[in-house]
Amino acid sequence: MDEFSVNINAGNGYAVHIGSNLTAECGKIISQVVGKCRAAVVTDSNVEKLYLQPVMKSLEDAGFDPISFVFPAGESSKNLHVLSEILESFADNGLTRSDIAIALGGGVTGDITGFAAGVYMRGIKYVQIPTTLLAAVDSSVGGKTAVDLSSGKNLAGVFLQPSSVICDINTFSTLAPDIFADGAAEAIKYGVLTSERIFDVFERGEVRESIAQLVSECVAIKGRLVEEDEHDNSVRRLLNLGHTIGHAIENLSGYTFPHGHAVAVGMVMMSQAGERMGFTENGTTDRIEKCLIRNGLPTYTDYDPEDLYNAALSDKKRSGDNITIVVPKRIGQCELMTIKVPELFDIISLGAQR
Ligand SMILES: NC(=O)c1ccc[n+]([C@@H]2O[C@H](COP(=O)([O-])OP(=O)(O)OC[C@H]3O[C@@H](n4cnc5c(N)ncnc54)[C@H](O)[C@@H]3O)[C@@H](O)[C@H]2O)c1
Ligand SMILES: [Zn+2]
Repeated sequence: MDEFSVNINAGNGYAVHIGSNLTAECGKIISQVVGKCRAAVVTDSNVEKLYLQPVMKSLEDAGFDPISFVFPAGESSKNLHVLSEILESFADNGLTRSDIAIALGGGVTGDITGFAAGVYMRGIKYVQIPTTLLAAVDSSVGGKTAVDLSSGKNLAGVFLQPSSVICDINTFSTLAPDIFADGAAEAIKYGVLTSERIFDVFERGEVRESIAQLVSECVAIKGRLVEEDEHDNSVRRLLNLGHTIGHAIENLSGYTFPHGHAVAVGMVMMSQAGERMGFTENGTTDRIEKCLIRNGLPTYTDYDPEDLYNAALSDKKRSGDNITIVVPKRIGQCELMTIKVPELFDIISLGAQR
């Protein structure tokens, strides 16, 4: 099976390793970037049963002194309470500034562990071992960490790049189809953004057989945008394709509609609006829709444009009277467009017309 390594020049610079059976190799890989130390592995209750044991063994074999912290699986654990439990456990186990945290799991685990690493003793190193497709292609790279507050998602966090990312593609074999599809939506997003090649693979339904290469191509795209704009002030915002409307759908559903599924619908609506404005090449929306359906994703929502607009306004990415949206030009090319906030209503309405 193929192995890939992508270098990200953000933070102190780090490699993203992508390949088969890497959970069993993680100790060796981590020892290339940090000396022998105590390693606090944070994981959720589902991933614990599947992958904690081989990770602990690999760390022990490589001379680390690993401990583990397990929290209940699910977005509802991404909060300040669990964060504080993680920090207390680091302290109880005597972690020092030269020790490391390891996030083993999906985006929830990565986000909360990264945050804990960022604030424990004013910052220790951490490593990401993503086990969902979404975490592999998106959340494990780029250094955004977070927990949710009662008034919204990801409202508290720090920027902290990991020291290494280790993606074992074999872990995807245990993902429920819906969770795999959620990650596929973000990967298809990279295709629409900058790579018709990635899009083609999803369009043809040849995903599982080339997953390692696909993940490496997605990570390389995210890496380039993060390198250019680490703190999300300019080109990194392209990664928000489908997210303004996507977040509104998630919000209206009370966060029961999965993130990737919501982004899928958001991408279709932006492309539809773009075609109707004469900005997007004709036929783009049709291709996006067919590709999403082929990959088990939805393409429309019944929510009213007015409700979507109001929910979108609560998004933190708004600045003053303006909002920046991402509109496809064609498959493989998108542009940032800064519009007046009320114009977003027209875009959503155009996108909702079928
Ligand atoms: N930091 C960022 O840049 C960034 C980017 C995108 C998303 N996110 C965040 O990521 C989170 C969503 O990530 P997610 O979808 O990975 O959620 P998640 O971590 O909750 O994982 C989804 C589910 O899959 C289970 N799971 C994980 N790996 C598994 C495996 N290999 N086999 C079987 N089950 C497994 C988990 O236990 C969980 O139930 C959100 O909180 C979102 O805000 C962060
Ligand atoms: Zn996303």
